[in-house]
Amino acid sequence: MANIVVLGTQWGDEGKGKVIDLIAPAFDVVARFQGGHNAGHTVYINGKKIVLHLIPSGILRGDKLCIIGNGVVVNPQAFLDEISELEKFGVEVNENIVMSSKAHLILPYHSSAEKVSENARGSKKIGTTSRGIGPSYQDKAGRQGIRTGDLLDLSILREKISQNVKEKNIYLKHYGAELFDPEKIFEVYASYASRLKKYIADVSLILDDKIKEGKAVLFEGAQGTLLDVDHGTYPYVTSSNSTIGGVCTGLGIGPDKIDAVWGVSKAYTTRVGGGPFPTEIADKTGQLLLKRGNEFGATTGRPRRCGWLDAAAVAYSCRINGIRHLILTKPDVLDGLEEIKVCVEYKYKGERLRSFPSESWVLEKVEPQYKKIRGWKKPVHGIRDYSDLPLAFKDYIKFIEDLIQAKISIISTGMERRDSVLIEEDLKQSMNLEKIKTEL
Ligand code: GDP
Ligand code: IMO
Ligand code: MG
Repeated sequence: MANIVVLGTQWGDEGKGKVIDLIAPAFDVVARFQGGHNAGHTVYINGKKIVLHLIPSGILRGDKLCIIGNGVVVNPQAFLDEISELEKFGVEVNENIVMSSKAHLILPYHSSAEKVSENARGSKKIGTTSRGIGPSYQDKAGRQGIRTGDLLDLSILREKISQNVKEKNIYLKHYGAELFDPEKIFEVYASYASRLKKYIADVSLILDDKIKEGKAVLFEGAQGTLLDVDHGTYPYVTSSNSTIGGVCTGLGIGPDKIDAVWGVSKAYTTRVGGGPFPTEIADKTGQLLLKRGNEFGATTGRPRRCGWLDAAAVAYSCRINGIRHLILTKPDVLDGLEEIKVCVEYKYKGERLRSFPSESWVLEKVEPQYKKIRGWKKPVHGIRDYSDLPLAFKDYIKFIEDLIQAKISIISTGMERRDSVLIEEDLKQSMNLEKIKTEL
C-alpha cells in the first residue's frame, strides 16, 4: 500500500484539512509530523463545520489511527479541548489517537515569552498565532524542552519545570512581564499527565509495525512550504520544518516509507501575519477574494491577506518537496472574474530571477511578472465531473501544470467533500480510489 504525504505549497491555509478528509478513506493511518495548535484545518461535513488544530483531520473518518509525531509541539489543554469538540461533533476519540513520547510540550511561559519577543520586534513583528509555538521549539533546540514522556514521571517533571521557570523568570522580569510560580505549573501539568498518559506511545515503532502489516499511511502537513523555518520566507515563518524532511524527523521513519508527495495549492494566494507577499492585491479584487473565499484565519480569526496565484512560488515548493501531483483548491472563488492574473516569474533590479529568493528583504522588492488569463464564464463551484468543467478553465489548468511542472490530480470546487473533481488515472496510481469514491 502506498504512503502519501500531503503538504501545503504556499503560506498555509491551502485547504489541507478538506483534502485530507476527502482522501483519508484510502488510508489506515493519518499522521501529523510538525507544527502544533497554530494550525487550523477546516472541514465541512453536510454543512457542519469543524476545525482541527492538533489532531489529524483523518479523525473524522472513524476507523483511522491518528498519530501525533515527535515533531509536533503539544499544548495539553488544547489537545483535551479538541477531543471535547470532536466528541460534541459526534466523533469518538479513544484508542484511535496516539502521541509520541518525544513530542515537546508547550508551557504557559512559552506564550509569555512569545508576547515579549513579538513586542520587541516593533514594526517587524512576525504576526504569530500567539500559541507559544516558537518558544517551545526554541527550548527543544536549546536542549531544555519538556517532552510528553516527562509526564510519565512526576518527580522528573517537577524538576524540569522548576529549572525552566527559574531561567524564564529572569528573561520575563527583564521585560517587566508577569513571573511564573513553578509549583503552580507543576500542579496543572501533573493533572494533565493523568489524562494524557493513555495516548503517549512509541510512534516510530507503531508506524513501522503498521507499514509492515501493509497498512497505508497518510502524512498530514500543517502550515505550508513558505512558512518552513529553513526554506520559507525567513524570519517570517513558523518554527518547524513543514517541508518534506519534517516527515522523517517528525515521526522517526525512513524516507523509504514515503511513496509520493502531493502538494495543495489555492487558485490564488493568502497569507496571515507579517512578511513579504509579492502578489498581494491591495485593491477591491483583494477584498473580493477575502469575502468570497471567507479568508479569515481558522485559528486566530484574523483576515488573511489575499493575492494572485504565485506560480513561481508554487514551482519552488514543488522542487523543494519533490511534488509531482497538485491538488488545486478554491478555483470557485475566481468564478465570474473577467480576468485572472498568475505570476509566472520574478524580476529583481530588472533581472529575471531563476529561483525563489532566500532573503525576505529581496522578496520584498521583487517585481512579479504576470500572465493575464481570461476568466471562465460558467462557474466551477460544486462541479464533480471533469467533463462538466468549462473549456476556459481546462485551459487554465493546463497552463498552471506547464508552469509548475506538476500534474493537477484533484480539483476542489467547494468546501464539502463531494465538491471535488478526481482525476482518476492519477489517483489510482497512489491510493485506493474506490474507497474514496464509496465514502464521498
Ligand atoms: P488548511 O489550513 O490548509 O487546512 O486550510 P484552512 O482550513 O485553514 O482554510 C481553507 C478554507 O477554505 C476552509 O475554510 C475550507 O473549508 C475552505 N475550502 C477548502 N477547499 C475549498 C474549495 O475548493 N472551495 C471553497 N470555496 N472553499 C474551500
Ligand atoms: P495551517 O496548518 C497560516 C503563520 C502565522 C505567522 C507565522 C508564525 O492552518 O495552514 P507561529 O504561531 O507558527 O509561530 O506563527 O506562521 N502560521 C500560519 N498561517 N496557516 C497556518 O497553519 C499557520 N500556522 C502558522 O500567521 O505568520
Ligand atoms: Mg489553516
